[in-house]
Amino acid sequence: MSPEKAPEIAKGEKIYEGKAKVLYKGTEEGTLIQYFKDDATAFNAQKKGTIAGKGIVNNKVTELVMKHLERIGIPTHFIKRLSDREQLVREVEIIPLEVIVRNTVAGTMAKRLGIEEGRRLERPLIEFSLKDDDLGDPLIAEEHILSLDLADEEELSEIFDMTHQINDFLRGLFAGVGIELIDFKLEYGRLYDEDELGYRLILADEFSPDNCRLWDMETGKKLDKDRFRRDLGGEVEAYQEVARRLGITL
Ligand code: CDP
Repeated sequence: MSPEKAPEIAKGEKIYEGKAKVLYKGTEEGTLIQYFKDDATAFNAQKKGTIAGKGIVNNKVTELVMKHLERIGIPTHFIKRLSDREQLVREVEIIPLEVIVRNTVAGTMAKRLGIEEGRRLERPLIEFSLKDDDLGDPLIAEEHILSLDLADEEELSEIFDMTHQINDFLRGLFAGVGIELIDFKLEYGRLYDEDELGYRLILADEFSPDNCRLWDMETGKKLDKDRFRRDLGGEVEAYQEVARRLGITL
């Protein structure tokens, strides 16, 4: 893995620093640069640490996933990767929802409903939480989304369709490298389309072992941020293993 280098890419002003990424204005209008850090947080930032090289893995895994999704017809904010830790994306208006997809029960769902982790769901489940760190991203229902006008009916229906398509595709992608996709989180945004004179929905944010659960199909070994959350150790190697299996060179 290449050592951390000082960012070399021409960037505009820093507009946001989150837990795992920094966002800068891009040099072109309507673009942003996502910089992936090694910082890791869990339990709404009560636990903090770093995972060496995580930013590089997450940047490259996100690139691979977004490119695959574009190919199957999912519009995404991804434009191109700029460096080991940076990628150029379209600036969108983020819809303040965390769209969570579950194929197998784990994490907060297991806790909340008293179900043992590892139970396969009859069909994939899509849950929503309100994207609000101060409130700890509370779970909300579709009715909240419509009543609070966080998204309209058409957008919500598109979110369901696109999310199911993404899940079907990604389950296959990971199964092909011996990994079970347990659950993951997506974020969507709105982009103004001049041709259509309206907003369209596009996939934003990232897809990486930071926001999904990946279990080795043979051994059940966790290859995701749960290694950090639960002090299991070996998080650097687990992130690298995911990249390696996907054919990514670090
Ligand atoms: O991860 P945790 O147990 O806190 O919450 P969860 O609801 O079980 O998370 C489901 C999936 O969404 C996991 O793969 C998380 O990594 C991801 N997630 C996320 O990326 N960001 C959040 N704020 C919440 C969940």
